[in-house]
Amino acid sequence: MKIAIIGAGNMGGATARGLAQSEKGYRLMVSDPCQTNLDALKEQYPAIEVTHDNKACIEGADLMILAVKPWLAAEVLGGIKEALAKEKPIVASFAAGISAQEIAQLTGADLPVFHVTPNTAIAVRQSMTFVSAWHTTPEQDNLLLSLFRELGDAMLIQEAQMGAGMALASCGIAYAFRYIRAAVEGGVELGLYPGVGQRIVQQTLRGAVALLEANESHPEQEIDKVTTPGGFTIRGLNAMEDKGFTSAVIAGLRASVK
Ligand SMILES: NC(=O)c1ccc[n+]([C@@H]2O[C@H](COP(=O)([O-])OP(=O)(O)OC[C@H]3O[C@@H](n4cnc5c(N)ncnc54)[C@H](OP(=O)(O)O)[C@@H]3O)[C@@H](O)[C@H]2O)c1
Repeated sequence: MKIAIIGAGNMGGATARGLAQSEKGYRLMVSDPCQTNLDALKEQYPAIEVTHDNKACIEGADLMILAVKPWLAAEVLGGIKEALAKEKPIVASFAAGISAQEIAQLTGADLPVFHVTPNTAIAVRQSMTFVSAWHTTPEQDNLLLSLFRELGDAMLIQEAQMGAGMALASCGIAYAFRYIRAAVEGGVELGLYPGVGQRIVQQTLRGAVALLEANESHPEQEIDKVTTPGGFTIRGLNAMEDKGFTSAVIAGLRASVK
């Protein structure tokens, strides 16, 4: 299966690097005007083919991933219209704010199109990726989901849910970092060096996620296990709620959706 990736920046480059590690033996070709981006990919994964020519990139491609900035999507797709009509690849667009249906219109051809939203953890193959589909078959849906599950987790959603998904995962990764930063700062006030505090917080979060997954439980069930009546944890939780912890998180998520 040949996968053509147009744009070797943050997301396109990370996707190429992640898929290059797959055992499925994808043929990967990446196109970008920037030689430095292409050289960096080639040096790390010599099997990745690189080019400056978007048309050459999609020649014989089964799947084309469009990973350019949203304001360049129309121009880039306009430049490869004939090639797309000839090659008929599945199209997966990363462009934020442009729906699968809109991308389909920009291709000018009757192609199966996905709007794909990964988060920055795609660079370490731990993305939460949302996929919405336009004129695709269940087989194509499964193909896209299994491909992006090699780079973390992936979920098929309606386009209307993309904003909520992005708030929780794309913006949400920043909110998770902010929690980590706050906890580390609290640790410093309690007498821990920042590096020590960060190591503790990172492992604590890994443990929390592992417990939820292993027990298939709700967070509140796990909280009940550590809140001794009259104990320190319930006092800490109540102090956080008194400062608006839950409502601050929900307000932040609501503010992240247009
Ligand atoms: N970053 C995120 O967290 C995130 C999350 C979800 C979705 N997205 C979406 O992912 C897409 C890519 O974002 P990014 O952060 O990876 O952007 P980026 O780092 O700027 O990468 C885009 C790449 O496309 C190249 N490019 C420009 N014009 C091109 C053309 N005509 N043909 C081929 N390549 C071209 C750029 O080269 P030059 O640098 O030389 O211009 C650059 O290397 C965006 O649409 C964004 O909305 C991003």
